[in-house]
Amino acid sequence: MNKKVVYTSNPIAGGLQGTLRMPGDKSISHRAVMFASLANGSSRISGLLEGEDVLATLAAFRAMGVKAEGPEQGELSIEGVGMQGLQAPETDLDMGNSGTAMRLMSGILAAQQFASKLVGDESLSGRPMRRVTVPLTAMGARCATDDNGCPPIHIRKVDRLEPIDYKLPMASAQIKSCVLLAGMYADGVTSVTEPAPTRDHTERMLNAFGYPCVSEPKGDGVTTVRIEGGGELQATDIDVPGDISSAAFFMVAASIIPGSDLTLQHVGVNPTRTGVVDVLRSMGASIDFTNPRDVGGEPVADIRVRYAGLKGIEVDPKYVPLAIDEFPILCVAAACAEGETVISGAEELRHKESDRIAAMVAGLRAVGVDVEERKDGMKVSGGEIEGGTVESFHDHRIAMSFAIAGAVCKTNIIIDDCSNVATSFPNFPELANSAGMNIEH
Ligand code: S3P
Repeated sequence: MNKKVVYTSNPIAGGLQGTLRMPGDKSISHRAVMFASLANGSSRISGLLEGEDVLATLAAFRAMGVKAEGPEQGELSIEGVGMQGLQAPETDLDMGNSGTAMRLMSGILAAQQFASKLVGDESLSGRPMRRVTVPLTAMGARCATDDNGCPPIHIRKVDRLEPIDYKLPMASAQIKSCVLLAGMYADGVTSVTEPAPTRDHTERMLNAFGYPCVSEPKGDGVTTVRIEGGGELQATDIDVPGDISSAAFFMVAASIIPGSDLTLQHVGVNPTRTGVVDVLRSMGASIDFTNPRDVGGEPVADIRVRYAGLKGIEVDPKYVPLAIDEFPILCVAAACAEGETVISGAEELRHKESDRIAAMVAGLRAVGVDVEERKDGMKVSGGEIEGGTVESFHDHRIAMSFAIAGAVCKTNIIIDDCSNVATSFPNFPELANSAGMNIEH
């Protein structure tokens, strides 16, 4: 059980300065552990995010007989067992706080020759899982959620999986990935059609492990991804770039704190993840990518952010899947911008580690910001932030967002429960303070 961690974030006088290295990308880290475990041969992963979510995925594979050394300072070696080499776990597989781990693992486990049960913490145990059990059942899997459609997920053994052509009911990389991973075990070609672009790390990394996975754009952002079952993954080395979702806290911080000039090194800038940059730029932010390069099939760059007075905008709903995890910190940007910012088409935010619309509305009000809650978003009136005490709702990104807001408020911001910051950004307060923030923790 995590200890209670409280942050007090105090206003700061000068700007943020320096060059920071972000922790490894969470989405890429999960997938690296999964594919390396199922590959033939030994893979070395560097830059791995050693956050609790990724460690839960690694623990699950260890419980199924995978041998791994590390992680130590982001270095992890995994001896893959091959597509058919996992062994029945002796206990439930605990995915902790991680929806990504649970949804992607369910795709892999649905195809194994043993039964398994996926469980999670209180937050994960309230999140919707029929969105994965429905397509898996259509593939012939035997899996069930509880009566409310939430975890635990019970998976029973089946002899074979059928391929399906699945049209995602919502733009979700986790569901897309779940079906593609099950598709690696199906008899034939599985296709997944997404209504709008979502992160494509699964597709890129499958190809990096030598497993063909083909994306076909259909126009209007609709894409069909195809995978043929029965293939193999070949071990490879993966260099995980820094997480743009973690970098987003510093992009907003530097944009709203006068005098800031920050460089964030080696950040993943996959176009399915850079919605936050586009939204901030349209609010007037000064964000430059330098030194662009390709690292193992993923685009990477250094990101320089300088203070700029932001202005409110209507956020185009097309950015929702492309900045899905960055809306809490974008709400802080909106609170500091001149004028109103309207977020719409973002109902999926209600199904994250917390209901992020309700959590941000409650927190912004508690620190004196004028905000109107809507079913699918909110309207934030920019201005000054007073300060006060906010609840994180056990959500790492809510906690970090208000920690950033504290730097520009009048009094201070106390955030009640920040232990879950360790799921995605274990050294957040130390790194923030090293750039000039004042977060007591
Ligand atoms: C993730 C996909 C996103 C995101 C999550 C990580 C992934 O969820 O919110 O933090 O790694 O595939 P959805 O695309 O399912 O909304």
